Amino acid sequence: MKKLSLPISLSRLVEKLESKTDFSPVELLKIIKDANISERHLFPWADFDHPKVEGYGRKLVYTGDHFEIMVMSWAKKDYTAIHNHGYTKWGAVKVFGALEHISFQLEENHLSTLHKERLEKGEVLAVNQDLIHQMGNPTDDNILSIHIYGTPEKRSNVTENSALYEVGKHETQIVNGGVFYDLRNDIIVERSPGLKSDRLTEIGHFTSLLNFYYKSNQRGAQYNKAVNYFQNRSFEGRFSLELELDSKGILYFIELRKARILLELLDESTKTIDSILNEINDIEKYS
Ligand SMILES: [Fe+2]
Repeated sequence: MKKLSLPISLSRLVEKLESKTDFSPVELLKIIKDANISERHLFPWADFDHPKVEGYGRKLVYTGDHFEIMVMSWAKKDYTAIHNHGYTKWGAVKVFGALEHISFQLEENHLSTLHKERLEKGEVLAVNQDLIHQMGNPTDDNILSIHIYGTPEKRSNVTENSALYEVGKHETQIVNGGVFYDLRNDIIVERSPGLKSDRLTEIGHFTSLLNFYYKSNQRGAQYNKAVNYFQNRSFEGRFSLELELDSKGILYFIELRKARILLELLDESTKTIDSILNEINDIEKYS
Protein backbone atom coordinates (compact mmCIF):
# COMPACT_ATOMS: atom_id res chain seq x y z
CA MET A 1 0.00 0.00 0.00
CA LYS A 2 1.31 3.48 -0.87
CA LYS A 3 1.74 6.10 1.83
CA LEU A 4 -0.91 8.32 0.25
CA SER A 5 -3.66 5.73 0.66
CA LEU A 6 -2.94 5.10 4.35
CA PRO A 7 -5.22 6.42 7.08
CA ILE A 8 -3.93 9.75 8.35
CA SER A 9 -2.61 8.29 11.64
CA LEU A 10 -0.50 5.74 9.78
CA SER A 11 0.85 8.20 7.23
CA ARG A 12 1.84 10.40 10.17
CA LEU A 13 3.64 7.41 11.65
CA VAL A 14 5.42 6.63 8.34
CA GLU A 15 6.52 10.23 7.96
CA LYS A 16 8.14 10.23 11.41
CA LEU A 17 9.80 6.86 10.85
CA GLU A 18 11.24 8.09 7.57
CA SER A 19 12.74 11.18 9.22
CA LYS A 20 15.73 9.22 10.60
CA THR A 21 17.08 5.70 10.81
CA ASP A 22 17.47 4.95 14.50
CA PHE A 23 15.04 5.41 17.39
CA SER A 24 15.18 4.87 21.13
CA PRO A 25 12.18 3.19 22.81
CA VAL A 26 11.23 6.55 24.33
CA GLU A 27 11.24 8.25 20.92
CA LEU A 28 9.15 5.46 19.40
CA LEU A 29 6.68 5.61 22.23
CA LYS A 30 6.20 9.33 21.61
CA ILE A 31 5.88 8.87 17.84
CA ILE A 32 3.20 6.20 18.32
CA LYS A 33 1.38 8.30 20.88
CA ASP A 34 1.47 11.39 18.65
CA ALA A 35 0.27 9.40 15.61
CA ASN A 36 -2.94 8.69 17.53
CA ILE A 37 -3.62 5.33 15.90
CA SER A 38 -6.95 3.82 16.77
CA GLU A 39 -8.17 0.29 16.24
CA ARG A 40 -10.49 1.16 13.36
CA HIS A 41 -7.54 2.53 11.36
CA LEU A 42 -6.23 -1.04 11.23
CA PHE A 43 -9.45 -2.66 9.98
CA PRO A 44 -8.32 -2.76 6.29
CA TRP A 45 -5.57 -5.20 7.36
CA ALA A 46 -7.62 -7.30 9.78
CA ASP A 47 -7.33 -11.01 9.02
CA PHE A 48 -9.08 -13.01 11.69
CA ASP A 49 -10.06 -15.72 9.20
CA HIS A 50 -6.46 -16.60 8.43
CA PRO A 51 -5.72 -20.27 7.61
CA LYS A 52 -5.89 -22.28 10.83
CA VAL A 53 -2.39 -23.72 10.38
CA GLU A 54 -1.10 -20.18 10.59
CA GLY A 55 -1.22 -19.32 14.26
CA TYR A 56 -2.37 -15.71 13.76
CA GLY A 57 -3.05 -13.22 10.97
CA ARG A 58 -0.22 -10.99 9.68
CA LYS A 59 -0.47 -8.33 7.00
CA LEU A 60 2.16 -5.95 5.76
CA VAL A 61 1.01 -2.34 5.88
CA TYR A 62 4.09 -0.49 4.70
CA THR A 63 7.75 -1.12 3.83
CA GLY A 64 10.16 1.80 4.22
CA ASP A 65 13.88 1.87 3.44
CA HIS A 66 14.77 0.67 6.90
CA PHE A 67 11.53 -0.38 8.58
CA GLU A 68 8.29 -2.34 8.20
CA ILE A 69 4.83 -1.78 9.61
CA MET A 70 2.55 -4.78 10.04
CA VAL A 71 -0.88 -5.47 11.48
CA MET A 72 -1.43 -8.73 13.34
CA SER A 73 -4.86 -10.24 13.91
CA TRP A 74 -5.43 -12.39 16.94
CA ALA A 75 -8.59 -14.46 16.82
CA LYS A 76 -9.47 -16.15 20.10
CA LYS A 77 -6.60 -18.31 21.44
CA ASP A 78 -4.27 -17.39 18.54
CA TYR A 79 -0.59 -17.61 19.52
CA THR A 80 2.81 -17.25 17.91
CA ALA A 81 5.60 -19.73 18.50
CA ILE A 82 8.58 -18.48 20.56
CA HIS A 83 10.66 -16.24 18.29
CA ASN A 84 12.94 -13.26 17.80
CA HIS A 85 12.73 -10.56 15.10
CA GLY A 86 15.46 -11.19 12.58
CA TYR A 87 17.33 -8.07 11.50
CA THR A 88 15.22 -5.81 13.74
CA LYS A 89 17.28 -3.49 15.96
CA TRP A 90 14.47 -1.21 17.13
CA GLY A 91 10.72 -1.43 17.10
CA ALA A 92 7.46 -1.30 18.99
CA VAL A 93 4.08 -2.99 19.21
CA LYS A 94 0.81 -1.32 20.15
CA VAL A 95 -1.95 -3.70 21.21
CA PHE A 96 -5.69 -3.06 21.05
CA GLY A 97 -6.72 -5.70 23.57
CA ALA A 98 -5.47 -7.78 26.50
CA LEU A 99 -2.89 -9.89 24.68
CA GLU A 100 -0.59 -12.21 26.59
CA HIS A 101 3.12 -11.53 26.37
CA ILE A 102 5.84 -13.94 27.47
CA SER A 103 9.53 -13.07 27.29
CA PHE A 104 12.47 -15.47 27.33
CA GLN A 105 16.19 -15.46 27.87
CA LEU A 106 18.65 -17.48 25.78
CA GLU A 107 22.01 -18.35 27.26
CA GLU A 108 24.30 -20.88 25.62
CA ASN A 109 21.40 -22.40 23.72
CA HIS A 110 19.33 -22.73 26.91
CA LEU A 111 15.96 -21.00 26.81
CA SER A 112 14.22 -19.94 30.01
CA THR A 113 11.01 -18.04 30.73
CA LEU A 114 11.69 -14.57 32.08
CA HIS A 115 8.32 -12.94 32.41
CA LYS A 116 4.66 -13.50 31.63
CA GLU A 117 2.19 -10.62 31.51
CA ARG A 118 -1.20 -9.53 30.26
CA LEU A 119 -0.93 -6.33 28.24
CA GLU A 120 -3.53 -3.64 28.53
CA LYS A 121 -5.54 -2.24 25.65
CA GLY A 122 -3.52 0.61 24.14
CA GLU A 123 -0.25 -0.50 25.72
CA VAL A 124 2.95 -0.10 23.70
CA LEU A 125 5.74 -2.62 23.98
CA ALA A 126 9.34 -1.96 22.90
CA VAL A 127 11.07 -4.46 20.64
CA ASN A 128 14.83 -4.76 20.23
CA GLN A 129 17.39 -7.11 18.80
CA ASP A 130 17.59 -9.18 21.98
CA LEU A 131 13.88 -9.70 22.53
CA ILE A 132 12.77 -13.33 22.42
CA HIS A 133 9.07 -13.63 23.06
CA GLN A 134 5.72 -15.21 22.40
CA MET A 135 2.45 -13.32 22.00
CA GLY A 136 -1.08 -14.56 21.94
CA ASN A 137 -4.70 -13.91 22.63
CA PRO A 138 -5.95 -15.75 25.71
CA THR A 139 -9.38 -14.09 25.44
CA ASP A 140 -12.45 -15.01 23.36
CA ASP A 141 -12.45 -11.67 21.51
CA ASN A 142 -10.70 -10.73 18.29
CA ILE A 143 -7.76 -8.38 18.93
CA LEU A 144 -5.61 -6.29 16.57
CA SER A 145 -2.08 -4.99 17.08
CA ILE A 146 0.27 -2.82 15.05
CA HIS A 147 3.98 -3.69 14.82
CA ILE A 148 6.93 -1.54 13.77
CA TYR A 149 10.28 -3.19 13.08
CA GLY A 150 13.36 -1.21 12.02
CA THR A 151 17.12 -1.19 11.61
CA PRO A 152 19.55 1.75 11.29
CA GLU A 153 20.85 0.28 8.02
CA LYS A 154 18.88 0.31 4.78
CA ARG A 155 16.99 -2.97 4.48
CA SER A 156 13.77 -4.00 2.79
CA ASN A 157 13.43 -7.29 4.68
CA VAL A 158 13.77 -6.26 8.33
CA THR A 159 11.76 -9.15 9.79
CA GLU A 160 13.46 -11.85 7.76
CA ASN A 161 16.04 -14.15 9.30
CA SER A 162 13.95 -14.59 12.46
CA ALA A 163 14.72 -17.39 14.87
CA LEU A 164 11.86 -19.68 15.85
CA TYR A 165 12.50 -21.78 18.93
CA GLU A 166 10.96 -25.25 18.52
CA VAL A 167 11.44 -26.37 22.11
CA GLY A 168 9.90 -29.84 21.55
CA LYS A 169 12.22 -30.55 18.63
CA HIS A 170 15.23 -29.09 20.47
CA GLU A 171 16.02 -26.95 17.48
CA THR A 172 16.20 -23.33 16.42
CA GLN A 173 14.78 -22.62 12.98
CA ILE A 174 15.50 -19.58 10.82
CA VAL A 175 12.42 -18.36 8.95
CA ASN A 176 11.49 -15.41 6.76
CA GLY A 177 7.76 -15.25 7.39
CA GLY A 178 5.18 -15.97 10.11
CA VAL A 179 6.38 -17.65 13.28
CA PHE A 180 3.94 -20.56 13.26
CA TYR A 181 4.25 -24.09 14.67
CA ASP A 182 4.99 -27.09 12.46
CA LEU A 183 6.25 -25.07 9.51
CA ARG A 184 6.73 -26.95 6.26
CA ASN A 185 10.33 -27.95 5.53
CA ASP A 186 10.57 -25.76 2.45
CA ILE A 187 9.71 -22.68 4.55
CA ILE A 188 12.51 -23.27 7.07
CA VAL A 189 15.71 -21.59 5.87
CA GLU A 190 18.03 -23.20 8.39
CA ARG A 191 17.93 -25.44 11.48
CA SER A 192 20.38 -25.66 14.38
CA PRO A 193 20.11 -28.49 16.91
CA GLY A 194 20.82 -28.52 20.64
CA LEU A 195 18.17 -26.13 21.98
CA LYS A 196 17.45 -26.77 25.65
CA SER A 197 14.90 -25.13 27.90
CA ASP A 198 13.72 -24.88 31.47
CA ARG A 199 10.63 -26.69 32.73
CA LEU A 200 8.28 -23.71 32.58
CA THR A 201 9.26 -22.97 28.98
CA GLU A 202 8.68 -26.63 28.10
CA ILE A 203 5.26 -26.68 29.73
CA GLY A 204 4.26 -23.41 28.04
CA HIS A 205 5.50 -24.64 24.69
CA PHE A 206 3.64 -27.96 24.81
CA THR A 207 0.48 -26.25 26.06
CA SER A 208 0.68 -23.82 23.13
CA LEU A 209 1.15 -26.74 20.76
CA LEU A 210 -1.94 -28.52 22.12
CA ASN A 211 -3.83 -25.26 21.73
CA PHE A 212 -2.59 -24.97 18.13
CA TYR A 213 -3.68 -28.53 17.29
CA TYR A 214 -7.03 -28.04 18.93
CA LYS A 215 -7.61 -24.77 17.08
CA SER A 216 -6.43 -26.04 13.71
CA ASN A 217 -8.35 -29.30 14.18
CA GLN A 218 -5.35 -31.38 13.20
CA ARG A 219 -3.01 -33.94 14.72
CA GLY A 220 0.21 -32.36 13.46
CA ALA A 221 3.81 -33.52 13.47
CA GLN A 222 4.37 -33.00 17.20
CA TYR A 223 0.93 -33.96 18.46
CA ASN A 224 1.92 -37.22 20.14
CA LYS A 225 4.98 -35.63 21.67
CA ALA A 226 2.89 -32.85 23.22
CA VAL A 227 0.27 -35.26 24.60
CA ASN A 228 2.89 -37.71 25.88
CA TYR A 229 4.72 -34.90 27.59
CA PHE A 230 1.80 -34.33 29.94
CA GLN A 231 0.91 -38.01 30.29
CA ASN A 232 4.39 -39.24 31.05
CA ARG A 233 4.86 -40.56 34.59
CA SER A 234 8.48 -39.48 34.73
CA PHE A 235 7.21 -35.96 34.13
CA GLU A 236 5.08 -36.35 37.26
CA GLY A 237 8.04 -37.47 39.40
CA ARG A 238 10.45 -34.80 38.22
CA PHE A 239 7.80 -32.16 38.42
CA SER A 240 7.00 -32.85 42.09
CA LEU A 241 10.64 -32.49 42.98
CA GLU A 242 10.98 -29.19 41.14
CA LEU A 243 7.81 -27.78 42.57
CA GLU A 244 9.34 -27.52 46.01
CA LEU A 245 12.42 -25.80 44.64
CA ASP A 246 10.94 -23.39 42.16
CA SER A 247 9.36 -20.07 42.91
CA LYS A 248 7.41 -20.02 39.65
CA GLY A 249 4.85 -22.45 41.09
CA ILE A 250 1.81 -20.32 40.29
CA LEU A 251 2.85 -20.02 36.64
CA TYR A 252 3.24 -23.80 36.42
CA PHE A 253 -0.18 -24.18 37.92
CA ILE A 254 -1.86 -21.82 35.45
CA GLU A 255 -0.12 -23.44 32.49
CA LEU A 256 -0.93 -26.95 33.63
CA ARG A 257 -4.58 -26.11 34.11
CA LYS A 258 -4.62 -24.79 30.56
CA ALA A 259 -2.97 -28.01 29.34
CA ARG A 260 -5.48 -30.11 31.26
CA ILE A 261 -8.45 -28.36 29.64
CA LEU A 262 -6.88 -28.83 26.20
CA LEU A 263 -6.16 -32.52 26.78
CA GLU A 264 -9.79 -33.00 27.68
CA LEU A 265 -10.98 -31.09 24.61
CA LEU A 266 -8.67 -33.24 22.50
CA ASP A 267 -10.11 -36.35 24.14
CA GLU A 268 -6.88 -37.42 25.78
CA SER A 269 -6.32 -38.79 29.26
CA THR A 270 -5.62 -36.23 31.97
CA LYS A 271 -4.58 -38.69 34.70
CA THR A 272 -0.97 -37.64 35.25
CA ILE A 273 -1.67 -33.97 35.05
CA ASP A 274 -4.64 -34.37 37.43
CA SER A 275 -2.41 -35.86 40.09
CA ILE A 276 0.08 -32.98 39.74
CA LEU A 277 -2.68 -30.40 40.01
CA ASN A 278 -4.04 -32.13 43.12
CA GLU A 279 -0.59 -32.11 44.59
CA ILE A 280 -0.23 -28.38 43.97
CA ASN A 281 -3.62 -27.82 45.59
CA ASP A 282 -2.47 -29.82 48.63
CA ILE A 283 0.76 -27.83 48.91
CA GLU A 284 -1.18 -24.58 48.71
CA LYS A 285 -3.61 -25.78 51.37
CA TYR A 286 -0.89 -26.65 53.88
CA SER A 287 1.73 -24.04 53.19
FE1 LIG B 1 7.29 -10.85 17.91
